[in-house]
Amino acid sequence: MEAFVMMIEIDRSSGVPLYRQVKEQLRAKILSGVLPPGTKLPPERNLAGTLGVNRTTIVTAYRELAAEGLVEGRVGHGTVVLAPTTAPAPGPVRPMQWAASSEREDLVMADVEAILRRPGAISFANGEMAPALYPTELLAQAFAALLAGGGDLLGYGPAMGYGPLREALAARTGGRPEEILILGGSQTALYLINQLLLQPGDSVVVETPSYLNSLGIFPPGVRVIPVKVDADGLQTEGLGELFLRYRPKLLFTLPTFQNPLGVTLSLPRRHQLLELAAKYQVGIVEDDPYGELHLDGERLPTLKSLDPGGYVIYLSSFSKSLTPALRVAWMVAPPAVVERIAASRGALDFRAALLNQAVADRMLRSGALDRHLAGLRTEILARRDALVGALTESMPPGVSWRVPAGGYHLWCTLPAPLRARRLLAEAAREGVAFIPGEYYGPGEEGRRGIRLNFTHPSLAEIPVGVQRLAGAVRRLLKEDGGTGSGSGL
Ligand SMILES: Cc1ncc(COP(=O)(O)O)c(C=O)c1O
Repeated sequence: MEAFVMMIEIDRSSGVPLYRQVKEQLRAKILSGVLPPGTKLPPERNLAGTLGVNRTTIVTAYRELAAEGLVEGRVGHGTVVLAPTTAPAPGPVRPMQWAASSEREDLVMADVEAILRRPGAISFANGEMAPALYPTELLAQAFAALLAGGGDLLGYGPAMGYGPLREALAARTGGRPEEILILGGSQTALYLINQLLLQPGDSVVVETPSYLNSLGIFPPGVRVIPVKVDADGLQTEGLGELFLRYRPKLLFTLPTFQNPLGVTLSLPRRHQLLELAAKYQVGIVEDDPYGELHLDGERLPTLKSLDPGGYVIYLSSFSKSLTPALRVAWMVAPPAVVERIAASRGALDFRAALLNQAVADRMLRSGALDRHLAGLRTEILARRDALVGALTESMPPGVSWRVPAGGYHLWCTLPAPLRARRLLAEAAREGVAFIPGEYYGPGEEGRRGIRLNFTHPSLAEIPVGVQRLAGAVRRLLKEDGGTGSGSGL
């Protein structure tokens, strides 16, 4: 009995309920055969006393194990481990009850998609470019040239990614190839970081509003601590106290052309953030898919390039600069991190597509990527300026926005008490879509904010779409201040 009790460890600082800690550890031991069928578990009172927990903690843990069919309470015998497979109860087959998704985000996106299905709808809602902006011919040439060389790129490649691309990216970013891992999207990288580096009970700090809040990437049991963002990016004032109080493992930031706010973390704040990370031993995940799309103003160094201590896990992607269809993104991090993630990626996607990585590599080395980027920046700049011009011309007083120095998105704030969600319902009638701020996190800023993408609508569509939106804003302000819950779409 003594040895058995020794095998259960209680961690009061983890934030995971104690009964669940006991249950999960017993469950693992039963399923792995450490506690074989017929084993008598200790009486609840005894186990509670030895572990220094309440009796109800053990009662609840045993009850949950019983509900899963792993143990059974027998009169006069206490709680006994059952054989893992029991014959199914006879009777008609009941269909599987899959849980239906009722996420708030799904409802928002369903509303947006309903608008976009209408003929003539204009979209400021997309997270991608207009099809005309993709370098279709350059991609076709690169694919053709690579396939003409035989089938070498059509098999599975190394888990770390296509070697030549890792070298080319190292040369471009000033890193070392062994610090670079190629993955099938920053999204995949974020998922793996969360699965591998975080455990239930850990805390993470996340900007709010932030694209990352919309993804649902944080595993259950991880505490998410929001930190505000202003015109200079993530607020570093008070961050030290936050780190001291919650001891987070990771901080997630989009320092350059943040999605959805479009803001950039200032240089002094970049330095402050790195100092605080070192002081409190907090890892930083720098998500930077838009960095290459600077339109005006000074281009700031990445956090990664300012970080000699290895605190930053840097992510970038060809999704926003070339095309998301390639599914090629990369991580730059200390070798201990990239090797761990590479070793585990097999469970997710085995390997990212090598041919696509070779296409990105070819475009990078040949200079085609840089030529494409130069043209793309000009196109995007024209669209951004068209959007700002149209907003200035059409929006009623009280609507405000910040002009982003790059990226895909502009954030507009509606006058109180107008709500973005209500505006979306009204905009549906006009045939214009955007993403309401609440999609990116809770808080007043989100409720009154709307994200407008300027890389998807055409130059001709932008003023028309803004006029429709401004009309909807005016109507709501006149009617009831836009505070109603909306009629649905
Ligand atoms: C900030 C941010 N990170 C990551 C992603 C996902 O990029 P990828 O296509 O590389 O998975 C996006 C896409 O919108 C994004 O805006």
